[in-house]
Amino acid sequence: MPSDTPILSLDNLSKTFAVRPVFGRASVVDALRNVSLDLLPGRALALVGESGSGKSTVGKMIVGVHSPTSGRILFEGQDIAAMTSKADQMRYRQAVQMVFQDPFSALNPAHTIRHHLLRALALHQPETDPDAALRSILEDVELDPVSTPDKFPHELSGGQRQRVNFARALAVKARLIVADEPTSMLDVSIRKSVLGLMQRLKSEYGLSILYITHDIATAEYLAEDTAVMFRGQVVEKGPTSQVVGNPQHGYTKLLRAAVPDPALRLTGGDAGFAAQAKFVRETSAHPVSALREISPGHVIAEHAVPAHA
Ligand SMILES: Nc1ncnc2c1ncn2[C@@H]1O[C@H](COP(=O)(O)OP(=O)(O)OP(=O)(O)O)[C@@H](O)[C@H]1O
Ligand SMILES: [Mg+2]
Repeated sequence: MPSDTPILSLDNLSKTFAVRPVFGRASVVDALRNVSLDLLPGRALALVGESGSGKSTVGKMIVGVHSPTSGRILFEGQDIAAMTSKADQMRYRQAVQMVFQDPFSALNPAHTIRHHLLRALALHQPETDPDAALRSILEDVELDPVSTPDKFPHELSGGQRQRVNFARALAVKARLIVADEPTSMLDVSIRKSVLGLMQRLKSEYGLSILYITHDIATAEYLAEDTAVMFRGQVVEKGPTSQVVGNPQHGYTKLLRAAVPDPALRLTGGDAGFAAQAKFVRETSAHPVSALREISPGHVIAEHAVPAHA
């Protein structure tokens, strides 16, 4: 397959949540507004943005926790909503695995690591010798293949637990991993090594990764491509070298300004910065009216600002 055919595409995806009435008034949240993204095979796409921008909603929709209000999710060109055969649905559920922020959340405290991984192997690689496969997968994620299998999840460190979650994705022969803030609950000292593991899964096994993060700096380390979200919309996307190294949308510049690099700071001193930040956020919240291509593949949103605003 040529590497420019996306493994996963989001096509104009929107998600509106109905929020329970507070004091008798029901309301809705537009968690995603017309999000279009392409993830290329064997590459990582970083999805960055502040809290509440819609990043996890994107991840959850990809793995089927929420269904789209409108728009489509395409896996290798096929609309996942149109996968009606059990075989296609199984193939998709196996190919796309999510790794969560909390490394405990997907592990059963009552079962050993061996149990978790053998179960995944038995379901998805029944032809292999389970003990040899278990050993090899643990080595792949840099866990001790002798001492780890008999441990329970609580007997591992957070970083080791997260490695087990990646091992499980390998055991089911996942092709795309949706990793939602996979390092943010880990000790700072081990974050880099888990990022390094993801880098290896990509370069050695050709896995595709959607890497959801607050931290635009780590996007540069792992992801060839980056998309920036704000209030449910993608405001800038393209090659990471461009989006992070040469941000063009006001909101991306704001995010970058939180990283110490004087050349990228918005000007005007503290008060000026606050005023400019407020202006950028207000402008960026308006609906995207057009996408402008700055350089090949590097796109920024333009916003429909009402005349009175
Ligand atoms: N199940 C739900 N019901 C109602 N509103 C929801 C639901 N899930 C998410 N939202 C709302 O959708 C918006 C986007 O939430 P989301 O969790 O995707 O943000 P996020 O970018 O992952 O934030 P964070 O960085 O804090 O994890 C928020 O306004 C959130 O309150
Ligand atoms: Mg989230």
